Amino acid sequence: MTPHRAARTATPRHYLMCPPTHFDVTYEINPWMNPAKPVDTDLAVQQWEELRRLYLEHGHTVDLVEPLPGLPDMVFAANGATVVDDRVLIARFRHPERAAEAPAYHRWFTDHGYPHVHSAAYVNEAEGDYMVLGDTVLAGTGFRTDPRAHEELRRVLGRPVVTLRLVDPRFYHLDTALAVLSDTEIMYYPGAFSAESLATLRALHPDALLVDEADAEVFGLNAVSDGLRVFLPDTATKLARQLRGRGFQPVGVDLSELLKAGGSVKCCTLEIRHHRAARPAGHEAGHRRAAA
Ligand code: ARG
Repeated sequence: MTPHRAARTATPRHYLMCPPTHFDVTYEINPWMNPAKPVDTDLAVQQWEELRRLYLEHGHTVDLVEPLPGLPDMVFAANGATVVDDRVLIARFRHPERAAEAPAYHRWFTDHGYPHVHSAAYVNEAEGDYMVLGDTVLAGTGFRTDPRAHEELRRVLGRPVVTLRLVDPRFYHLDTALAVLSDTEIMYYPGAFSAESLATLRALHPDALLVDEADAEVFGLNAVSDGLRVFLPDTATKLARQLRGRGFQPVGVDLSELLKAGGSVKCCTLEIRHHRAARPAGHEAGHRRAAA
């Protein structure tokens, strides 16, 4: 049996999501957004509900943050905060259009009793650019997150941070170009990275699953893995086959409306990573509540 064929196990996750009640494309802060193109908000809500239903069906906990009018991108919860060991580092958005999302996420975490909630000094778009991989964090920069924020992240989380530079404006957040599949495995689109960062990725992850441009362009890398299932856009068909080849179970999702804002599965999903010792009791209780 090759390592890629190793038996995969899912672990129950805790996600925070924000319904796209006020979703729209009213400004343009990435190359996918075109305010002239009509958006069907009801369809966006239906598609998003399906993603939430799939998470619940697969045993994950989903909490919700209340969507605020005037913040059409708030559905992209991954950008709200980075949470590791119950420590929360709130985002600081690059564009003024999204700035007011940060205090809304801050409020959610303080209201829900998280004792370590940090406001950020430097611009960082949270899990949009920060990918937690085992005990380390891969951190993107180039378009949104300020490289100085990486040092701040290291200080707040107390974990090593690997800086990666993005160079293709279509892949403006790290979570559009790279995804974490397990505690040790990643997949990425090489064309999104600077030569130096590509060398770093090759050195650290010689066995990474490499994704082609066609699958990257349909946001195939904007995926969420629970260790076994990989939730990803259903249009990333070659990638789904590649994942099956490595023993994962791809779960295709249609989020075509949200793609009009340059977001998909991972963007809609903020993972709350609990302190390991505290996980079993707290997590199970949370899960029963959410599933009831
Ligand atoms: N329109 C949003 C922006 O450009 C999309 C954010 C997508 N989120 C993500 N985690 N990549 O900021």
